[in-house]
Amino acid sequence: MKAIVLVGGEGTRLRPLTYTTPKPLLPIANVAFLERQLSWLASHGVDEVVLSLGYLPDAFAAHFPSGRAGDVKLTYAVEPEPLGTAGGIRFAAEHAAIDDRFVVCNGDVLTELDLTAMLRFHAERGAEATIALCRVEDPSAFGVVPTLPTGEVIAFVEKPPPGHAPTNWINAGTYVLEPSILDRVPPRLNVSIERETFPRMLEHPGNLFALQSDAYWIDIGTPEKYLEAHRDVLTGSVGLPPVVAATEVAPGVWHQGSVRVDAGARIEAPALLGDGAAVGPGSTVAGSVLGAGAVVESGAHVIRSVVLDDARLASGTEVVDAVIGRGALLEAEATATDLSVIGAGAVVAAGSKLSGARVPPPGVQV
Ligand code: GDD
Ligand code: MG
Repeated sequence: MKAIVLVGGEGTRLRPLTYTTPKPLLPIANVAFLERQLSWLASHGVDEVVLSLGYLPDAFAAHFPSGRAGDVKLTYAVEPEPLGTAGGIRFAAEHAAIDDRFVVCNGDVLTELDLTAMLRFHAERGAEATIALCRVEDPSAFGVVPTLPTGEVIAFVEKPPPGHAPTNWINAGTYVLEPSILDRVPPRLNVSIERETFPRMLEHPGNLFALQSDAYWIDIGTPEKYLEAHRDVLTGSVGLPPVVAATEVAPGVWHQGSVRVDAGARIEAPALLGDGAAVGPGSTVAGSVLGAGAVVESGAHVIRSVVLDDARLASGTEVVDAVIGRGALLEAEATATDLSVIGAGAVVAAGSKLSGARVPPPGVQV
């Protein structure tokens, strides 16, 4: 079966990380998010994926040089300009000559949804399109989808004002579609499946269905959710070990490859230390992930945070509820807290106190 993964967005809410790495290629617990999504798709019988691309397209080909991810064959449909979600689906489907039932996923949703059961539900209903739904506390940042007991969709309200959502069941960003839906999308235009295609399908009942699921689900698209996804993966929400071949050296503490933890350093679960990571004496790493080659020098504290590959935290630094980009440097005694996000290769000067800051990578003007 073929699937289209929508990865054309700029990931603005995850800037500055997404200035240099497209959102789907950002690691979640040291594995590119997209790799996790592709293995989930493969586990439900998907063997060919079309990446619907626009933003930083070369990064994807560079990440998957063989044009494959495990058993999944990859093809790339690069949009000349952003075509929106429905426009992107049509463009990608034409590119890959899709003429049979297919799956579409948003490229930023980490989930354990039972896609096999969803395909069955779709076939049983004879639906033209089926939307996976999950439940969230505040639906205002999502597509809100009330249904009849049969699963037929009553309405599709994209991002209603707070307090105005008719239900807490939201579009989880996975669809099963019949190829006939492509005829509903005007070619070469920017069209939103959420704001245009789905609402218009409701003019004639019986075509659009939705399946509610309480399976694990998170949209990784903001710093808060990106950190939350890491905690969930570390604690087993999508299965353990958090990374293939990681070793559990103490309950909830995982190592990849060869890791150096100096005497007097404290690692508190849940934690994942990537290959070549090093933690100096008197330092604490708790509830956090260190990428490959990340270095935490002496007397530093890394709490509920993500430090990407080859970043360096000098002595006495403090990183709490923050994301440190690939190859970034925090000089001595600097602190980054409260959802600070440091871009790849950025340097935070000694003694700086950053709270909720966004530091761009060198060379990017904001
Ligand atoms: N190819 C392509 N072209 N992809 C795009 C484009 C485009 O022009 N615009 C956005 N995308 C991709 C993004 O890369 C992302 O994977 C997906 O489409 C959804 O875009 P987001 O920007 O992440 O949307 P959202 O999170 O605000 O809302 C969407 O996801 C929610 C669930 O997380 C909607 O589908 C909501 O209805 C849904 O509830
Ligand atoms: Mg999103």
